[in-house]
Amino acid sequence: MKNTLLYEGKAKKVYQSADRPGQLVLSYKNAATAFNGEKKATFSGKGRLNNEISSLIFPMLAKRGVESHFIERLNETEQLVHQTTIIPVEVVVRNLATGSITKRLGIPEKTAFASPLLELFYKNDELGDPLINDAHTLLLTDLTAEELEEIKHKALEINQQLQHLFSAMNITLVDFKLEFGRMADGKLVLADEISPDTCRLWDKTTQEKLDKDVFRQGTGDLITVYEEILRRLEAQ
Ligand code: TMP
Ligand code: ASP
Repeated sequence: MKNTLLYEGKAKKVYQSADRPGQLVLSYKNAATAFNGEKKATFSGKGRLNNEISSLIFPMLAKRGVESHFIERLNETEQLVHQTTIIPVEVVVRNLATGSITKRLGIPEKTAFASPLLELFYKNDELGDPLINDAHTLLLTDLTAEELEEIKHKALEINQQLQHLFSAMNITLVDFKLEFGRMADGKLVLADEISPDTCRLWDKTTQEKLDKDVFRQGTGDLITVYEEILRRLEAQ
């Protein structure tokens, strides 16, 4: 039986697994988009790189006690995950100021936050993923106040784990975006992907950007820097 396409996003296709009920196949595409889809390009090999990177990071987090939807890497561009209902909130954690927060609040580039700064964005392409507060989140999702606290706590915990992981690769974790999903039994787990599409990663020595900002800003070759992230991850 063939897997059924459930949803196609900007960077991934999501299939219902034909032979494994309750499980999904995530197929990583070669597409890169930025600025809510305004800038688009195709990079041969990007799907494989993000699948490989994500397939290494989720198990590394699992070893450190972070549960996610990830089950296993299936092949070069696909991974198997538990089916969840995605909570339409992007949870961003920032260690250093760059990107939208510098423009939105006038915070100087590279300002280090004394404690990691957490922001919530409503996952809604038509609205351009606006920044929202806790009250908005409770209004727009099925999260309870306790669950929202749980997600925030988990995101900060994941920040600590990812900071350790990337630090050992001589990389500063500048910021990143997480999504959470609800399993059939109601439990909330880390979902979506963790890759250079969703993190800002700077080489500690050279400050070189090793993430999607090279595409957003047109300052480097996406495949070269994603390959570098995969190479350093594989050495861990
Ligand atoms: P921002 O500075 O543009 O708000 O991005 C913060 C972090 O979130 C950065 O690591 C990139 C990531 N991100 C996504 O993964 N998806 C998105 O749609 C956006 C806007 C940012
Ligand atoms: N993923 C978003 C988009 O396509 C934005 C971004 O990552 O910069 O358009």
